[in-house]
Amino acid sequence: MIETYLNEHKERFLAELCDWLRIPSISADSNYKAEVLKAAEFLAQKLKDAGADSVEICPTAGHPIVYGEKIISPDLPTVLVYGHYDVQPADPINLWTTPAFEPDVRDGKIYARGACDDKGQVYMHVKAFEAMMKQGSMPCNVKFMIEGEEEVGSGNLEPYVKNNIAKLSADVILISDTGLIANDIPSIGVGLRGLSYMEVEVTGPNRDLHSGIYGGGVANPINILCEMISKLKDSNEHITIPHFYDKVVELSADEREEMANVPFSLDDYKAELDLSDIHGEKGYTTLERTSVRPTLDVNGIWGGYTGEGSKTIIPSKAYAKISMRLVPNQDSKEISDLFADYFKKLAPPSVKVKVSYHHGGEPYLASTDSVPYQAAKLAFKKTFGKKPIPTRGGGSIPIVAMFKQVLGLDSILMGFGLDSDAIHSPDEHYGLFNFYKGIETLPYFYQYYAELAKVAVTEK
Ligand code: BES
Ligand code: MN
Ligand code: MN
Repeated sequence: MIETYLNEHKERFLAELCDWLRIPSISADSNYKAEVLKAAEFLAQKLKDAGADSVEICPTAGHPIVYGEKIISPDLPTVLVYGHYDVQPADPINLWTTPAFEPDVRDGKIYARGACDDKGQVYMHVKAFEAMMKQGSMPCNVKFMIEGEEEVGSGNLEPYVKNNIAKLSADVILISDTGLIANDIPSIGVGLRGLSYMEVEVTGPNRDLHSGIYGGGVANPINILCEMISKLKDSNEHITIPHFYDKVVELSADEREEMANVPFSLDDYKAELDLSDIHGEKGYTTLERTSVRPTLDVNGIWGGYTGEGSKTIIPSKAYAKISMRLVPNQDSKEISDLFADYFKKLAPPSVKVKVSYHHGGEPYLASTDSVPYQAAKLAFKKTFGKKPIPTRGGGSIPIVAMFKQVLGLDSILMGFGLDSDAIHSPDEHYGLFNFYKGIETLPYFYQYYAELAKVAVTEK
């Protein structure tokens, strides 16, 4: 019984996760390169200890990919587990109740950067694997591919996958890097949004100017940038970039109805975020706005004087980072080009504009009519006692669409986080309930998947 093994070892599982969380594997900051490698080494060792073979730390042009596998028999199906061991920076660090890299367990939750996204969720897989190995109940083959650059766009994963197609051959990809609707409402992810991440620079005069001598006579690039940004959406929060919505797939009436039946409380939503009202695209519900509709958001904006006191200037430059979340069938490259063209057209002749592209990824949508979905459904039913609901996540895991394209494989998103886990924010946390429930549920996925996949093959 998986439950028995889990109960006997749960304290150690948690202590090990805390050890891993203490390593600040921040992929975005080059000062942490050695720490990122340490986190990779830690994971590689734990995979070996759990019983994985061929464990490697595969170097890339950036941070390494950790690989490991257990081939029980070439006749059995193979599950490829993907996840990431890199984390977001901890900033703003003064808003953490306890330090981001000193994991603290309080109120049944573990507080640390990466606790939920994604070390805590990856570690459930390592411990579920350990449990199955130690009990001699591993029902199929498994391959682990855990990367260190998800939070910076997975730029080196695509060449790795393309160069290792045979090594990565599998029947399905299993990922825990998303969330449940609630701890008593299990769900299975069937979709993710894509992303186009842009940066813009607006230049007015060639240097900062005295705002009394020149003010009124020249373009202020910050004012102009704000005007340009305000033109990117109309009063209905509809994005104005020409052809932006051309390829967007609208939900059918049935799909909208199904979504409206997903348990969701607007009051709780507002209360949790301390909002007096919500805001978004006219004609769509909050759940639709945050999952099946595309968005455009300014992530950061800067320029001019922001130091202490006041300084009277017309700045020379203004900048913004602007991202768009994409839905099927929008294409990240096309949308980035549409944005760049339109943004440049919005500029008056009094300023110069530069638009550059950071990273992106394509949206993903899987069917619920598949063997892995059925297996995940049975697994959730077994451990939560309830039938899970299919959900489309608003976040992005850009490589999921790439896996489909390059490996021809669907991904099943069995995430155990909650939206309220504050991923990417101060006080990120992960419920012990969720951590342990994940370790308990994943082996059932393997078991049901091995059974159903075998039947599917015999029926062919
Ligand atoms: N795990 C998240 C993505 C996620 C979270 C999807 C919750 C659905 C629900 C992932 O680590 C992440 O943060 N992705 C980035 C994209 C990346 C290119 C930086 C994102 O969505 O902003
Ligand atoms: Mn993640
Ligand atoms: Mn993340």
